[in-house]
Amino acid sequence: LPKDIFPNRKNSAGVDLSDPLVREPLLDRLNALSTRHWHAEPTFVSGAEGEVAPINKPHDLTAEVGTRRDSLDFEVEEAITRALDIQPGWNALGGEKRALLLEEAADLFEAHTEEFLSLCQREAGKTLQDAVLELREAVDFLRYYAVEARRLFSAPIPLPGPTGEENRLTMAGRGVFATISPWNFPLAIFIGPAAAALAAGNAVVAKPAEQTPLIAALAVRLCHEAGIPEEAFQILPGAGDVGEMITSDPRIAGVAFTGSSQTAQAINRSLASRDGPIATFIAETGGQNAMIVDSTALPEQVTRDVVASAFQSAGQRCSALRVLHIQDEVYDSMLHMIRGAFEALTVGDPEDLATDVGPVIDPDAKAALERHVARRKKAGRQVWRRRLHKGASAGCYVAPTIIEMDSILDLKRENFGPVLHVVRYKAVDLGRVVEEINATGYGLTLGLHSRNDDTRAFVEARARVGNFYVNRNQIGAVVESQPFGGEGLSGTGPKAGGPHYVARFATERVVCIDT
Ligand code: SER
Repeated sequence: LPKDIFPNRKNSAGVDLSDPLVREPLLDRLNALSTRHWHAEPTFVSGAEGEVAPINKPHDLTAEVGTRRDSLDFEVEEAITRALDIQPGWNALGGEKRALLLEEAADLFEAHTEEFLSLCQREAGKTLQDAVLELREAVDFLRYYAVEARRLFSAPIPLPGPTGEENRLTMAGRGVFATISPWNFPLAIFIGPAAAALAAGNAVVAKPAEQTPLIAALAVRLCHEAGIPEEAFQILPGAGDVGEMITSDPRIAGVAFTGSSQTAQAINRSLASRDGPIATFIAETGGQNAMIVDSTALPEQVTRDVVASAFQSAGQRCSALRVLHIQDEVYDSMLHMIRGAFEALTVGDPEDLATDVGPVIDPDAKAALERHVARRKKAGRQVWRRRLHKGASAGCYVAPTIIEMDSILDLKRENFGPVLHVVRYKAVDLGRVVEEINATGYGLTLGLHSRNDDTRAFVEARARVGNFYVNRNQIGAVVESQPFGGEGLSGTGPKAGGPHYVARFATERVVCIDT
């Protein structure tokens, strides 16, 4: 793409936590927000009494952050009707005006930095560092998709007319898009797909994860303040049943889902079996992400990148490293160093600045991870676990864990948390290692640490993954620089934050005028 297509757009600078003149006043303001009570409910509430459920901190299940009022069936119905009514007007507004509104929303997000950071920490259990990265990504999505709205929707694309006719291609919104988003990026992945759908001229009904509707509700409110009509971007809080109500409505033109591969397949089946137009389905799902470390790798760099990839965000990133493959010759020394850094991680309250690894999202996530570790122990595997801090039982803490195993194929499902598996391989078996990684069926991220260009080329040519990272960590894809998304069980594409994303939310129309 020509460079002048992205005039003056820069990703957000975020908040420099290393600067005490920035950090200390920020901590004071976060402290002042630490008791604020939040609420999420459908954009248009009916008069009916809905059940109100508490949202508690993942790191302290006795501390209420706010309440959630789930969407009722007739509210879902009504939301889609309102969205359908406004969509033609929203589409007719054109790319430039929609871009300005998305950019205004990005500015408002930055102006509300403290509230977003506070909610990331209190509702989702994120460390401050992770919260800052999350807000940056959200702002970057808004601004990047705004530029995409201008690029794709401002003017028709002229096409050749070899026999003298005039041909042109225009792009338009498909109609009403449903977005269903996860709790692990409760702001960035809530706003990213919604902003792309809006940029393309769709109206959006958005169902945030049931665990994290409060931050989503703030995001939607600020989008409305920016001037995006309430009918064009509505929030419908709720659990899976609300998601099903939305996606089974034949008036929904497309669904952008981020979450587990199993849920994506269930939505896909439901879309296939409903009447009405064929829906567009965009799914960004999980991974069984591997890293390969050969004997030419730099141990200090490997250690830093393994620990970040596996344990940052308590391993709750779809990009996170799950299975580390280390070449035989350096296996013991490398693992020794990694275990040293692992022992030095501070596990604790995410609202404490010193914490590296916070809680997992809820008791179900904790129980699933504990079952996995127990099964591996029972199978006689070598398992290293950190001891948890005092008071950890009040929250959903899982002790960071390293488990030795023989093959990535021994894992039947993604373990979404701070659990790293380690496999020893022989140099002659590198081809088999890559085949096994491919054979998981997932294809999201892959890391490689090697100073050997032939090895890099060998792995790059064979690995079927969306994002391949060499000599660095494998998390934290940057909008526009590393468009993110996988293949196979990891998703349908297109890549979030990349040049083909917004177009997938649009339909194409060709006009041919004979002279
Ligand atoms: N985009 C995120 C990352 O790259 C997804 O988990 O880490």
